[in-house]
Order: sequence, then structure tokens, then C-alpha cells
Amino acid sequence: MNYLLQQKGGVRPEPDWLGPRELERLAKFKFDKPRLDYMLGRWTAKNAISATLGLEHDPAAYALIQIVAAEDGAPETTVDGHPAPVSLSLSHSHDYGLCVITRETYAVGCDIELVEDRTATFVQDYFTEPERQIVAEAQGEYQRLLPTLIWSAKESALKVLRQGLRLDTRKVEVELDPPHEGPWQALRVHYPDGNTVFPGWWRCHDDYVLTFAADGPMPCPQAFSTEQTAQTLLLEGSPQ
Ligand SMILES: CC(C)(COP(=O)(O)OP(=O)(O)OC[C@H]1O[C@@H](n2cnc3c(N)ncnc32)[C@H](O)[C@@H]1OP(=O)(O)O)[C@@H](O)C(=O)NCCC(=O)NCCS
Repeated sequence: MNYLLQQKGGVRPEPDWLGPRELERLAKFKFDKPRLDYMLGRWTAKNAISATLGLEHDPAAYALIQIVAAEDGAPETTVDGHPAPVSLSLSHSHDYGLCVITRETYAVGCDIELVEDRTATFVQDYFTEPERQIVAEAQGEYQRLLPTLIWSAKESALKVLRQGLRLDTRKVEVELDPPHEGPWQALRVHYPDGNTVFPGWWRCHDDYVLTFAADGPMPCPQAFSTEQTAQTLLLEGSPQ
């Protein structure tokens, strides 16, 4: 289980690394922000897929990889027209794109959120009673963090389920391990209607929180090294 966090400024601006179906989608965006978010997500995912499958890091090789939204919105990946032997999930927030990827066949989910103040109404409307209790009992820096963290973990699980916000956010319930040393903390997302518990992880990065969940064994996600993703190589080759 690996993840890649990519900054928006590092995305190759020329769209020569997108495949035909992705270019079709790109042409439909009317505004810059969703267009750039779309490119950020694809760029992050293609870096992660190339690193996982040992493919070339160059625009032509990236154009053979396509990440196309299925009818429900979940990302589906092909390489040269064939389903890629990976399971992945995408998220973007402000300056960052996030991708979690595994060669396992079960579903994974990830989410990145900027930590910000959330209202009491937000917590009341979207959280379950035990989650509201966790927020109410939070101390110190956790008081501000927890509403965003719990929301993000729900989104990760809703991506595992391929439902997104079609499902009532109170149908999934986040349980956090007591905090321990180190950046990574374990979590679980209970989905009683599906008689399932999704294991997961969370960590902070600058002002953001990252969460991960899976419909199978979930080892702590490892960041790709710069050498594995070779992001700068492509940027260096990019005409300004
Ligand atoms: C999944 C969802 C909660 C993510 O929303 P978000 O927090 O704004 O966006 P994030 O950046 O964290 O994640 C976006 C990525 O989630 C993924 N995603 C979207 N729908 C998904 C689904 N049903 N299952 C799994 N992943 C999904 C996509 O890869 C998307 O990236 P892309 O748009 O570049 O292809 C939201 O898109 C959703 O609820 N989608 C399904 C229902 C829907 O379309 N509703 C309309 C809005 S309520």
C-alpha cells in the first residue's frame, strides 16, 4: 500500500501526458479550477501507477494510462486499453493531490482535507452520536482537528463503498485509536448496514489531514520516494 502526495505546482502544464478519453473530459471543463484539479488528480495517479507497475516516466508512456470515472464517479484505470492490475483512490484539496494505490484487488479509499473550523451544526448534521461525543470530549489541538478528521475518514470509507455522498454520512461511523507516538494513527470505519469494518490510517501534513481506508487488510501506507516517481524529471523536460 503506497501513497503519493503531489503539489499542484508540480503538474506538467502541457496536457500531452493525458490519453484521448481524458482529453475529451478536459475539454468539457468551463473553468480553470476544476480543470486544474482534474489534471492534478490524473498526474498524481499516473505517477503512482508508473511507480507501482515499473512503467516509464515520460509523457508518451503516461498518455497510455487512463483514469476514467465510472458511472458512479469511482476512478477506473487502464494501461494501453487493458484494465490495470491496481486498485487506487484519488483526492484533491487546494494545492494538493493524493493517491493511494495497491496491487491488491480490494477497494481502497483516500481523502485529503484542509483542517478548518467546522460549525456545531456541521457536526450535528453529519456525525453519529458516538462521533459527536468524541468531538465534544476533544482536548487541545484535537478540538479543531477532529471534525475535519472524522469527516475525511467518512469520505475515504464512502469511496471504498463507491457511494460518495449519495450515502448518508451517518451510515458509516469512525472510530479512532488512542493517539500514539509517530505521524500515523490507526482508525476503523464501521459500516453496520454492510456488516463490515474498514481498517484505515490518518496523519497530518502541514495544515491538512490525510485519511485512508480499505475493504481488506490495510498496512500503514508508505510514501513513494522521489526516485520512484521521478516527478522532477518530467518537469525538467517540460518546455516553459
Ligand atoms: C466521492 C466524493 C465524496 C468526493 O468528493 P470531494 O471531497 O469533493 O472530492 P475529492 O477530491 O476528495 O475526491 C474526488 C475523487 O473522488 C473519486 N470519486 C468520485 N466519486 C466516487 C465514488 N462514487 N467512489 C469512489 N471514488 C469516487 C474520483 O476519483 C474523484 O476524482 P476526479 O473527480 O478527479 O475523478 C463526491 O465526489 C461524491 O459524493 N461523489 C458521488 C456522488 C455524486 O457525484 N454526487 C454529486 C455531489 S453530492
